[in-house]
Amino acid sequence: MIGFELTQEQVALQDMARKFAANEIRPKAVEYDHASKFPEDIFEKAFGLGLMSGFIPEECGGLGLSALDSCIIEEELAWGCTGITSSMTCNGLALTPVLVAGTDEQKKKFVAPFAEKLQYASFCLTEPGAGSDAGGIATTAKKEGDSYLLNGRKCFITNGSHASQYTVFASTDRSKGHKGLSAFVVPRSLPGVSVGKKEDKMGQRASDTADVLLEDVKVPAENLLGKEGEGFKIAMIALDYARPTVAAFAVGVARAAFELAMQYSKERVQFGVPIAMNQAIHFLLADMAMEIEAARLLTYKGAWLLDMGKRNTKESSFAKAFASDLAMRVTTDAVQIFGGYGYMRDYPVEKLMRDAKLLQIYEGTSQIQRMVIAKEIMMR
Ligand code: CAA
Repeated sequence: MIGFELTQEQVALQDMARKFAANEIRPKAVEYDHASKFPEDIFEKAFGLGLMSGFIPEECGGLGLSALDSCIIEEELAWGCTGITSSMTCNGLALTPVLVAGTDEQKKKFVAPFAEKLQYASFCLTEPGAGSDAGGIATTAKKEGDSYLLNGRKCFITNGSHASQYTVFASTDRSKGHKGLSAFVVPRSLPGVSVGKKEDKMGQRASDTADVLLEDVKVPAENLLGKEGEGFKIAMIALDYARPTVAAFAVGVARAAFELAMQYSKERVQFGVPIAMNQAIHFLLADMAMEIEAARLLTYKGAWLLDMGKRNTKESSFAKAFASDLAMRVTTDAVQIFGGYGYMRDYPVEKLMRDAKLLQIYEGTSQIQRMVIAKEIMMR
């Protein structure tokens, strides 16, 4: 892999995503954040440019971009707004279980429509009692003839209110713990599926987060992904795919904060000189630049391993933990450089700090990533 230059195609994708973020996302990011507004208009334009179906294989009508291509694009989009980008790329996480465990027929039925028309899918793993402990899922799936009866409550579901299709993890045998979990595709239109409470979040407020309720939902057996009992591994593999994506968001939001802080430090005059003249500011900015570069390299490696068809569990967690912790530090230091103004909503950096916080929590907290890393380096 040694070679740090992007291909011409990757530079073109990066350029397109950068322009989209600057022209379509940034100008609306603050308004949509304050109003907690789902940016349907932005998604329509993004879908038209292929920015929402890049991950879908060509045989399912998508662009068939590599994981690395997607991370390059996502850094740019998240530079525009991390909340909008979380919702914009959520189909990738939700449909990966179908791509990794589904039959050709299931891929055609459950993935291809997302390349044809703008619509949303959600990944329904988390429950009120099963967050970090994903194996502790209480939602049940009981086999009845040629269908399964699903009952349970999923929470913190990205795009939950807007999705037309859910990938749901449920227990087909609670006595087996994580080995009893199974994965299902659940169309929103099935009787018994409903959307519950919509969350009022600290950051990433343009992204929709809601409860999804399942009450005696009769799901056809042909919607089971893989075999009964394979659900936990399918979820873990999907997260291995998705975590470099979150790392790319983190690099994007950190870069946005760094650029704004550097520019402000050159303009803000105190004691008769721009604050950028102080070594205290130099050191903050130098650390930001160095760590953003390190986070980007870890992100690219996590994605590249996937493209090589190799297991990336450890590197995916390296990237996710390092980049999201870095994004929190950089956005916090950017607020510090802006001083009192940085704390005010009139200035852009407080939003970046609020948005960054979620990166350390969703798709596995920073602590869970360290658990994964420790297991990978000590026991495998
Ligand atoms: N690939 C393949 N198999 C894997 C795997 C991987 N990456 N990770 C684990 N497994 C397998 C193990 O080999 C083991 O297999 P056997 O049963 O055959 O031995 C099995 O899965 C259980 O593994 P562990 O013993 O490591 O499981 P654990 O119970 O200790 O938990 C965990 C592991 C990493 C903590 C896991 O529970 C986890 O990732 N938790 C965090 C969940 C998470 O990220 N939730 C986020 C929800 S999605 C979201 O946030 C999106 C949104 O919409 C907001």
